[in-house]
Amino acid sequence: MAPGAKPDRVAGENRLVVAIDGPAASGKSSTAHRVAMRAGLYHVDSGALYRAATAAELRVQPDVSRWTEAGLLTAVGVVGLEARATGFRPTISGGDIEAEIRGAGVTRHVSLVAQMPGIRAWVNEQIRALARRYDIVVDGRDIGTVVFPDAALKVFLVADPWERARRRLSERFERQPTEAEIAEETGRLVQRDARDATQTVQAKDAILIDTTALTQEEQVSRIVALVDAARGRELDRGSAGGG
Ligand code: CDP
Repeated sequence: MAPGAKPDRVAGENRLVVAIDGPAASGKSSTAHRVAMRAGLYHVDSGALYRAATAAELRVQPDVSRWTEAGLLTAVGVVGLEARATGFRPTISGGDIEAEIRGAGVTRHVSLVAQMPGIRAWVNEQIRALARRYDIVVDGRDIGTVVFPDAALKVFLVADPWERARRRLSERFERQPTEAEIAEETGRLVQRDARDATQTVQAKDAILIDTTALTQEEQVSRIVALVDAARGRELDRGSAGGG
């Protein structure tokens, strides 16, 4: 840099962050993954980190009544992040945990773990460290409000609970679920929404997308167009402020 020239933005501060928040099973993760592939970003699933913390503790202490925040903070010592072509996935001691973290046991207890302030701080630090090095799309509950209040683009995805339950079960069973199965899953989702309510907040500057009547392709295309627009704004801001 020429002597006296103003530094552009400090290294690491000029990375693009796209935040996708919303309630359980609103399609955040699968959408964020596809947006990452199409827009050339890395996908980070913050819920997967809360799930990994829960799985790590379940391995060492199956009796949930004995869980403490200090115990959890020790347990997460074995959780790492593995880079894939389109994003980062949590591991335990370097091993794949994808099936384990999607299981019923982890899903039942993850909201309890996600209420521990120390665990929230741990998850947020993992994600912010990635954001210093990569352009990322992060999905979660509080990404646009707490983790990255200055994200270049914030999207809040919502969908009718019945439709969310139907989609989640179709994915899990790889067949059409029955009405009774959807009804039962809707009950579970609504309960988890209530437990997660305090941290599921729509940022004032987030763009709300109701996906109930959209196909996955439609919602992905909309967000990719928003990412392109956000990139254009960031470039303008950089050239206006960087000279
Ligand atoms: O995919 P689904 O919406 O079912 O859940 P998830 O995104 O995998 O998140 C699992 C759990 O982690 C949620 O039920 C929340 O309790 C917690 N979570 C959170 O508190 N804050 C986040 N940013 C992401 C997830």
